[in-house]
Amino acid sequence: MNPFLKYINGTLCLAGKPLHPVAARFGTPVYIYSKEVINEKLLELRENFPDGTIFHYAVKANTNPQILKFIRSKKIGADVVSLGELKRVLKCGFKPNSIVFSGVGKSEEEIRFAIKKNILLNIECLSEALRVQKLATSLKKAARVSLRINPDVDADTHPYITTGFRENKFGMAQEELIEVSQKLSQSSCVIVEGLSFHIGSQRLSDRPYVDAFSKLSEVVNALKASHTHFKHINMGGGFGIPYQMSEKPILLSEIARAAKEFTRKWGLELHCEPGRYLLAQSGVLVTLIEYIKKTQAKNFAIVNTGMHHLARPALYGAFHNILPLKQGRGSIIRYEIVGPICESADAIGKGRDLHELNEGEFLAVCDVGAYGFVMASNYNLQPLPKEILV
Ligand code: LLP
Repeated sequence: MNPFLKYINGTLCLAGKPLHPVAARFGTPVYIYSKEVINEKLLELRENFPDGTIFHYAVKANTNPQILKFIRSKKIGADVVSLGELKRVLKCGFKPNSIVFSGVGKSEEEIRFAIKKNILLNIECLSEALRVQKLATSLKKAARVSLRINPDVDADTHPYITTGFRENKFGMAQEELIEVSQKLSQSSCVIVEGLSFHIGSQRLSDRPYVDAFSKLSEVVNALKASHTHFKHINMGGGFGIPYQMSEKPILLSEIARAAKEFTRKWGLELHCEPGRYLLAQSGVLVTLIEYIKKTQAKNFAIVNTGMHHLARPALYGAFHNILPLKQGRGSIIRYEIVGPICESADAIGKGRDLHELNEGEFLAVCDVGAYGFVMASNYNLQPLPKEILV
């Protein structure tokens, strides 16, 4: 599954570095990230996508400042969805012209701030376009925008994380998008620089991307006919990773091929916004087993982390592999790996067959570098876990 996690001399290592000393030194629960893995994933992306592709890292996946600075040092831009994220990436040294501001609910304050800083705004509906136009006019400063189309393709992923289907709140149908482009073309305060889409997250098949590109020719034609000139297409992110043994890695080369064909045909620059693909496999959440509790029905390993630190299992029924830091030996037992939170949704792993576990041992919850710490909360007034980048 995660090729960067391996036992070496009986101890679990991330990109060759043993995790036990880090957990012992900094205490648990702790998110441990590997710079080396992020770098490897970045190389994979660059190898697959055509030269000249502009990457904006989807910051929502992981907003750790050290990670942001590392990614910026690799000449990657940022995709943000709130004023909080925007201020954080500016503080971490991202240049305004390397940032895209997406999201369906931008407030006046957020739009004003972005226009003043010359940040590209992804427009999601007619009302937002009119708000941007009004604010740009009052600030006497041009707003740079990209128009987000909802390509209406089935992303075949968890319903909570599809975004490019007509029933989702994201992007505009072709008719609305053309209307917006016509309205904006009458204003000298708004410059349309691109067309964007994003079809959902944790995609493991290349098909929806290929479908989306083939659908987009129609809207590009219509925009050209209405004399809207723009220079880039932003295909969003969504490239998944295999969390389970049964899942196959996504074929980036097929997506890149469709993207290349499209950008060549229309003479456009290619932008993309990977989040999970870059970060997920770079992080583990190390937790301590507080108690082993055997009931008539189940064996529980009660650990010092849970749904408050990693929401994905409780929220989406997501699977994360769980491995002991010291390679197990004894007999195989089926465990429920649960946290301290006062509700039964608080299970990090259900029905896991593991070598016999003992109180005081460490477990690693795998593939949590994306959408892990960023979704953590203080529920039950539990403190947040630590984060360490190695
Ligand atoms: N661009 C846009 C406009 C997005 O909405 C997203 C993610 C991305 C890029 C990055 O997608 P990625 O490459 O990371 O799949 N909390 C959920 C994931 C929500 C993703 C929302 N949008 C999870 O834990 O699975």
